[in-house]
Amino acid sequence: MSDEKLTIRCREHGPFVLPAKFLLVDHLGNAFPLPAGKENIALCRCGASKNKPFCDGSHKACGFQAAETAPVPAPIV
Ligand code: FES
Repeated sequence: MSDEKLTIRCREHGPFVLPAKFLLVDHLGNAFPLPAGKENIALCRCGASKNKPFCDGSHKACGFQAAETAPVPAPIV
């Protein structure tokens, strides 16, 4: 198993995007099939997707706003 941390990117006004190397299960523990042939998967965070938990681009039409930024680390002095 790799020690590399999984990186999840918050797209500005859009989905969470992460490499397609994970298992995503529903509330019953059943796995969602990941879209085939994709290097990255976009997960909906706006709530408007008709293909939840995956992003289908609906965030653009619903006017979803999310531009949070992570805290910038303090410089080492
Ligand atoms: S974030 Fe894309 S449809 Fe919700």
